[in-house]
Amino acid sequence: MVKNNGLMKKILVLHGPNLNLLGLREPSVYGRTSLAELNEQLKTHADASGFILTTQQSNSEGELINVIQQAMSDKVAYMIINPAGLTHTSIAMRDAILAVQIPFIEVHISNVHARESFRQHSYFSDIATGVISGLGTNGYLLALQAIIEKLK
Ligand code: DQA
Repeated sequence: MVKNNGLMKKILVLHGPNLNLLGLREPSVYGRTSLAELNEQLKTHADASGFILTTQQSNSEGELINVIQQAMSDKVAYMIINPAGLTHTSIAMRDAILAVQIPFIEVHISNVHARESFRQHSYFSDIATGVISGLGTNGYLLALQAIIEKLK
C-alpha cells in the first residue's frame, strides 16, 4: 500500500500496568499471547486497512496520562484502552481522556464482571464508546475492527 501519513488516520492502543507481563502473568486468566505478539497482530491488521496504529504500555499512571495528552497533539482519531488495575482507581486517567475528547473503546482481557467485586466498577465504561470484556486478547482485535468500521 502507498502510504500517505498526512492523510492516514491514527489509532492508539494503550495498555496499563502489568500488561507488559502478558503471556507470563496468570496465563489461566490472561492467556499465553505476549504483549509483543498482540501489538504485532494489531499493527498488521490496521496497516492492511490503511490506518496507522501505535501502541504504548506503562506501569505508571502519570506516564499513561502524558501519552493521552500527547495523543491530542498527535491527532489520534481513536483509542483502544485497557487501563488494567487503573480501571478501578484512576479518576486522573479518566479526566485526561475527557480533556482530550478522543473516543475510545475499553478492553479487558478477562471478564471483570465474573471476578472480585472491586473489579466490577470502572471509571471508564460510562465515557467509552463501548466495552469488551472476557474475550481474551481477541477483544483488542474486535475493538480495532469496530474502530476501522467507524473511521472508514
Ligand atoms: C484487566 C482486568 C483488571 O481488573 C486487572 O487489574 C488487569 C487486567 C483485564 O484485561 O482483564 O490488570 O484490565
